[in-house]
Amino acid sequence: MAENEQATSALTALQRQRAIQEAITHLFAPEDEGLRHALSAAKTGGLPEIQISPLEGKLLQFLAVTCNARKILEIGSLAGYSGIWLARALPPDGKLITLEINPHHADIVRQSFAWAGVNERAEVRVGNALDLLPTLQDEAPFDLIFIDADKAPYPSYLQWALRLSRPGSIIVADNCVRGGEGLRPPEQLQDEGNIGIATFNQQVASNPRLLSLALVIDDGFMDGFTIAVVRPDTDDSK
Ligand code: DHB
Ligand code: MG
Repeated sequence: MAENEQATSALTALQRQRAIQEAITHLFAPEDEGLRHALSAAKTGGLPEIQISPLEGKLLQFLAVTCNARKILEIGSLAGYSGIWLARALPPDGKLITLEINPHHADIVRQSFAWAGVNERAEVRVGNALDLLPTLQDEAPFDLIFIDADKAPYPSYLQWALRLSRPGSIIVADNCVRGGEGLRPPEQLQDEGNIGIATFNQQVASNPRLLSLALVIDDGFMDGFTIAVVRPDTDDSK
């Protein structure tokens, strides 16, 4: 195949992939006014536009319902977009606690939760997650824990997620592929964030208490979620 023909067919493949993804989103994960408001409030507030995609939001809901989630913990709220998806998967008496380091972002999140009608069951707590996580032990176990904060401490967030979970809990982390960097041996990496993610992936994959995989789910085949379920306790006496 001539070089330009190859480039054309590669472009067409990418376009086809995008069109399929858009059609799936349109059918299975349409955004309502509440979600769209959260995105525009984030933009107006000057937050980075790094929200999860609607399909990722729907996957979070799917996982939350699968594990009968009544209590969800989110580490890193950003603009509340993922929090809205998560909170909507909860029963009326369920609770989402989301941790946010930036008080300005937290105000935007509260407003977006109110706009989306989830503020009764979604609470934002402001502070460094590594300071807040030890204060959550009385409220554990959480049925689903979603990690989407600064990347270097992902291994520490994993340790807390394991402490604050139960057999059957689901742990999800965003940005775990990073164009392949997140799957390389950490000692070969320079960037602290990528080292954090690669170490997290190794720890998740090798933990006998977890059943896990990484999923590429963004539209450029570059990034996605690592998902893990805490296995039922094995009975060593048998
Ligand atoms: C970044 C962080 C995220 O959580 C994300 O989804 C994309 C990018 C970042 O820090 O660059
Ligand atoms: Mg992210």
